[in-house]
Amino acid sequence: MQNNNHMNILLLGSGGREHAIAWKLKQSYRLDKLFIAPGNAGTSSVGTNLPISATDFPALKEAVKEHHIDMVVVGPEDPLVKGIVDYFASDEYLKNIPVIGPNKEGAQLEGSKDFSKRFMMRHHIPTARYLSVTADNVDEGEHFLEQLKAPYVLKADGLAAGKGVLIIDHLETAKSELRQMLNGKFGASSRTVVIEEFLKGIECSVFILTDGEHYQLLPEAKDYKRIGEGDTGLNTGGMGSVSPVPFADACFMQKVEERIIRPTVEGLKEEGICYKGFIFFGLINIEGDPYVIEYNARMGDPETEVVMLRLKSDLVDLLEGVAQGNLDRKKVEFDKRAAVAVMLVSGGYPEAYEKGKIICGLDEVKDSIVFHAGTAVKDGNIVTSGGRVLAVSSYGADKESARALSFANAQKINFEGKYCRRDIGFDL
Ligand code: AMP
Ligand code: GLY
Repeated sequence: MQNNNHMNILLLGSGGREHAIAWKLKQSYRLDKLFIAPGNAGTSSVGTNLPISATDFPALKEAVKEHHIDMVVVGPEDPLVKGIVDYFASDEYLKNIPVIGPNKEGAQLEGSKDFSKRFMMRHHIPTARYLSVTADNVDEGEHFLEQLKAPYVLKADGLAAGKGVLIIDHLETAKSELRQMLNGKFGASSRTVVIEEFLKGIECSVFILTDGEHYQLLPEAKDYKRIGEGDTGLNTGGMGSVSPVPFADACFMQKVEERIIRPTVEGLKEEGICYKGFIFFGLINIEGDPYVIEYNARMGDPETEVVMLRLKSDLVDLLEGVAQGNLDRKKVEFDKRAAVAVMLVSGGYPEAYEKGKIICGLDEVKDSIVFHAGTAVKDGNIVTSGGRVLAVSSYGADKESARALSFANAQKINFEGKYCRRDIGFDL
């Protein structure tokens, strides 16, 4: 620990989520130095980027030593599923440095759909009916599909870069996709496939921080995954987000806490799983009742780009509560205003797109916060380096004014092929 109780923090990841977390950490009076590995052009304006992959544990260890890091915050799921928490815990030098995130077993809530479904069954957490299928019980899988109504939901068990979920209209197509998945359509990830009943309702993302014993709710959000306005066209990593979510009122959130959050935190504890970090509950609201669609072991992207705006409490202080196991003594305050993020993406995304386009107009943005998602610095210019490029986030008295401000600023930023949705929040 540094003098005056100030901390050096290393944040892992390189997307809009990480820029938003870095922006929030930077506001803490508790922060001394902030490092981001590997970061992007945006995070370099709030901290020091280190050219290290978030899954290169030995190189991260060297960085922790060199920069006297007091805490590591993990943005994406990969390092967690690969066991960064266990790596630190078993290393003589690193074992006293807290890592915000679950251990490898806890990360299975996201890393294995089969694990998460079995966990929900054991703890009576509401979710869709399902069957896990491997090469050994394909016939049973086909029989289960025959009992369900269209559309059919097939999920690769393991991480598949957000592409492992198929929603299929016809039974015969579902059966043939099932076989293709088991035959390695998504590599090892789909050697087990979870077949699920389709749930019809409206989705919402709920986030908590837990120290393994207690938890604190963070602002909820809704993201918009389809490329086209009105939720049409291909799925993307997320085209925007809004917080708060009007249907997530006190009555709905009480059900979420009683039926989902508490049984999850208590279930992890009962099973002896060490979980100190964020839990993202991907929920669906069916006529006022919440069901779990998925768990993630991290924050959402682009949800974080609005959640961090609405979190008034000091994030370093909360994370310290996670590390020290006294999160119950912390107070989480939400900003009453609405927040909307509008994502600017590369032309062609989510299919093939070009990178390296010069971004201009960033200096003209007024009263919004621009989080970088896929940017890099080249020859002194900020250029595009991904499909999702920038998230323009704004506050507003309501979601309409927040969206209008984000969109107005989004229009001041330009790069060849730029595209964004104008209707974030339209369905709420
Ligand atoms: P997942 O990776 O499990 O979150 O699935 C990706 C997306 O597929 C979700 O955000 C939902 O939009 C959709 N989805 C997944 N499971 C179901 C289900 N059982 N019923 C309806 N939609 C689903
Ligand atoms: N926005 C959904 C996710 O981060 O998985």
